[in-house]
Amino acid sequence: MHHIESQHHCHNRRGSVVLATILLALTFVRISLGIALVRARQAQLPAADLTGNWVVRTPNADGTFRLTYFNLKQEGSRITGSIRLTQFYYLIVESTGGAEGFTITGTMKDGKNERRVKYEGKLVRDELRIGTRRRPEDQLTELVAHRTAAGEGALPARIAPPALHKVKDNGLARTPPMGWNSWNKFAGRVDDATVRSIADAMAGNGMKDAGYLYINIDDTWEGGRDPQGNIQTNKKFPDMKALGDYVHKKGLKLGIYSSPGPNTCAGYEGSYGHEDQDARTYAAWGIDYLKYDWCGARTIYTDEEMPAVYQKMGDALLASGRPIVYSLCQYGRLDVWKWGADVGGNLWRTTGDIRDSWDSMTRIGFTQNELAQWARPGHWNDPDMLEIGNGGMSETEYKTHMSLWAILAAPLLAGNDLRSMSPAILAILTNREVIAVDQDKDGKQSTRVWKSGDQEIWTRPLSGGAHAVAVFNRAAETRKLSVRWADLGISRKSRVRDLWEHKDAEGAWPEYSVMIPGHGVVMVRVSR
Ligand code: GLA
Repeated sequence: MHHIESQHHCHNRRGSVVLATILLALTFVRISLGIALVRARQAQLPAADLTGNWVVRTPNADGTFRLTYFNLKQEGSRITGSIRLTQFYYLIVESTGGAEGFTITGTMKDGKNERRVKYEGKLVRDELRIGTRRRPEDQLTELVAHRTAAGEGALPARIAPPALHKVKDNGLARTPPMGWNSWNKFAGRVDDATVRSIADAMAGNGMKDAGYLYINIDDTWEGGRDPQGNIQTNKKFPDMKALGDYVHKKGLKLGIYSSPGPNTCAGYEGSYGHEDQDARTYAAWGIDYLKYDWCGARTIYTDEEMPAVYQKMGDALLASGRPIVYSLCQYGRLDVWKWGADVGGNLWRTTGDIRDSWDSMTRIGFTQNELAQWARPGHWNDPDMLEIGNGGMSETEYKTHMSLWAILAAPLLAGNDLRSMSPAILAILTNREVIAVDQDKDGKQSTRVWKSGDQEIWTRPLSGGAHAVAVFNRAAETRKLSVRWADLGISRKSRVRDLWEHKDAEGAWPEYSVMIPGHGVVMVRVSR
């Protein structure tokens, strides 16, 4: 290089051209040599180095394993096969490299969407070091896969969904279910001791008296299956029947969770191919509520097959002979509100997962307007569990959360740690006047009757000719608003009861002027 630079400096044009040509030729020779070398090295490798079934076994704290399978076939520099993990199953559609360094891209259909995953790895002796990045700029999280028996971790064969019929109404959930669910706060950390102490708290802190009834265990209670195919609990739940007895003695009910797929969302054992057997097991344990989460079913079925797949468990629960509330969780796909009741569902999720933030809560809560017509006693739209008390929102925002869910006739499933909440959070969760709106026996879900910028008014007809009215301020600053009752179709002079102030509003006729804090709500009951 020094030599070439010095030639450039003497400004001899002809000399430069000759030298540049030589340099180009040399580079070409170098590249060709490099390619030849790589080819030679590849040729030395055994033809199918990566070929085989590889598994990563990551222990969960409960005796189960998180399993990831790479079933690979290498032909020269082409890698095909599949990747299976938790609820996902990808077919490899692109690959580069070989055993010394490769990438594979997998794809799967998920309803209308395509999911993609990309791994990069290399073979080091008999270990497959393989990893993925969430974003290209992220560090590689490396897993170590070992060879395992062919066929292990293969996706089970498809079972054709049954023909559709109408499942008889189980007569449960005449008002929206109330209780607690483990997921929002505890996720994979829920265990027997936690559930017992949550039941103690709920029975003793006034929540049970206010109507909260179900203690629902979400994902990660599952173990494997015994040789007869019976579902087992994992180490975190040594005796589900005993836990059921404990919860029942408190005057509460116990709920559980599963998936129609081979795996749940967290990758645990699902009910696929064992629906009747699992329903019987739940009944024997004293289970009163099942949340049935699509998850791994996406590896086997299309969205259009959802009704038949959900009907299967609807039938199984009825056949179990025990009254079990049936909660559908498939994120509102395929307009579930139109068929959820027909397959035996008492409630159905209408959206993806809630998070403990103002954005997430309002994005879900304020987009339920079109669904009001589908809610009725026994069959409810479910905008997901409450985040009240989990710390990501202010008390004002949690009051809005509670008010919105109540006026929507949504299930009220607390998702916080009931053993350690502040009196203010307990007061929000146990506001009996707001709960009475949620639990109104007519079961009519609210609709939005007015909106201007960040202000919205939602009303809900209540039994006996009364109305619930919630005035929401989605802006960050306090706003003043005047509500003229006649504009809302309420023309007879009525009593206006403020459900958060717990008193009748004075001078509220024929219009009511309210100051609403930023992200806050004024909620009233208007009745004669
Ligand atoms: C899904 C559901 C959640 C929760 C988790 C558990 O994401 O929508 O509510 O049940 O699975 O894995």
